[in-house]
Amino acid sequence: MKSHIGLIGLAVMGQNLALNIARKGYKVSVYNRTAQRTEEFVKNRVTNEEIEPHYDIESFVKSLERPRKIILMVKAGKPVDDTISQLLPHLEPGDLIIDGGNSHYMDTERRFKELSEKGILFLGMGVSGGEYGALYGPSLMPGGSREAYNLVEEILLKIAAKTEDGPCCTYVGERSAGHFVKMVHNGIEYAIMQAIAEVYHIMRDVLSLSSEEMSSIFEEWNRGELSSFLVEITYKILRKKDEETGKPMVDVILDKAEQKGTGKWTSQAALDLGIPTPSINLAVVERVISHFKDIRTRLSKLYNKRRSATQGSEEFLRDLRNSLFFAMFMAFSQGMWLIAEASKEFGYGVNLSEVLRIWKGGCIIRAKLIDTLRRYISNENAYLLENEEVMNLLKGKIDSLKNILKASIENEIPVPVLNSSYNYFMSLTEERLPANLIQAQRDFFGAHTFERVDREGVFHINWEEGEIG
Ligand code: 6PG
Repeated sequence: MKSHIGLIGLAVMGQNLALNIARKGYKVSVYNRTAQRTEEFVKNRVTNEEIEPHYDIESFVKSLERPRKIILMVKAGKPVDDTISQLLPHLEPGDLIIDGGNSHYMDTERRFKELSEKGILFLGMGVSGGEYGALYGPSLMPGGSREAYNLVEEILLKIAAKTEDGPCCTYVGERSAGHFVKMVHNGIEYAIMQAIAEVYHIMRDVLSLSSEEMSSIFEEWNRGELSSFLVEITYKILRKKDEETGKPMVDVILDKAEQKGTGKWTSQAALDLGIPTPSINLAVVERVISHFKDIRTRLSKLYNKRRSATQGSEEFLRDLRNSLFFAMFMAFSQGMWLIAEASKEFGYGVNLSEVLRIWKGGCIIRAKLIDTLRRYISNENAYLLENEEVMNLLKGKIDSLKNILKASIENEIPVPVLNSSYNYFMSLTEERLPANLIQAQRDFFGAHTFERVDREGVFHINWEEGEIG
């Protein structure tokens, strides 16, 4: 019997996805560049599942029912192109390749075009949820042609995470829409992670709380409106002890944050499309700054921080909780706005509410807040702020955020994402920004022209008669 589907790339995500699909009753052929990994996978992890290993591409492709459906779980970048090149001589028009990696959306755009010209169907599919999600139910964000999606919809719906609002998978939109949406998911992920880290920083260095105390607070927060996967793992992380030293695990981990690029890509896309995503941008920047450990260590000796130990009062903790909620909201606001703009600009046809729905389960940014966001999102209100109830909800948090920002300034603690959430909101709600002065400066030194508030048209004046004009 031929396999229903094939999967290439047996790193942990690929292994888990293959097992997940097989456990839903499908026969899966698998192939990996190095045979040893395939052998180990079959030996160590496959039990009753119908998983058929293959050790050369040709026999792998031949083992699949037609039209063939092949999921790639290989590293983003060149490995995806290399794998597609190896597959192509063995495929026929109508066959389908699904790239389940974190590919850049422009690569997906190119591959979609190249493969379409050859009659090969292609889906760029965001897969979120890490190893656990891949095995027990990820959030799936497939984009490409609807025809391609229809070929695998049944399988994808079965393997995706489930919530009361259905499986966490939908046809996201045309061409590279799936990878674009996954990229923004990761941008939001960066911003929320950094906001949580800033709150932790204040708890640790201003309130001098122990890891156990912080863990209990996050655990309590996770029962309320902040309930989310990232808050949940934070309280679990904070209570974990290092077996070697007995210290909290977080205290023995070096403070240098790595990144594989999806957060940076989100900021780059946002800058290109002209959509403000300051929380995401600053989360990326802060990871970059964290990397300069040596410089930070030297400079910290030249500049002594003024820290006044504060008691962790009920009010202060409430303010911290509210600030984190506010920052989380702004991260979604910026991300959804970016998706809406990309959908318009690139003709993706994304349904914003559906994107939020498939983020309710399985993915890294799943959060109770998403239900609230879904009530208010629309193409016109993609940034989610244009609603009286939302405004009231956020107004209730502003004083808290101001208190926390004040405390961070008094204690000289960097809180770039909390701060940028505040400034993003304050800029968007300011009718008269000082951009008139910027326009005047541009016109002064470069005759770049300006518009007037009192009549239509484009203007330029001589700012210093006889000198510059
Ligand atoms: C997910 C994650 C996943 C990966 C991140 C990590 O949705 O399951 O986002 O894709 O863990 O890309 O990204 P960084 O290495 O850039 O932090």
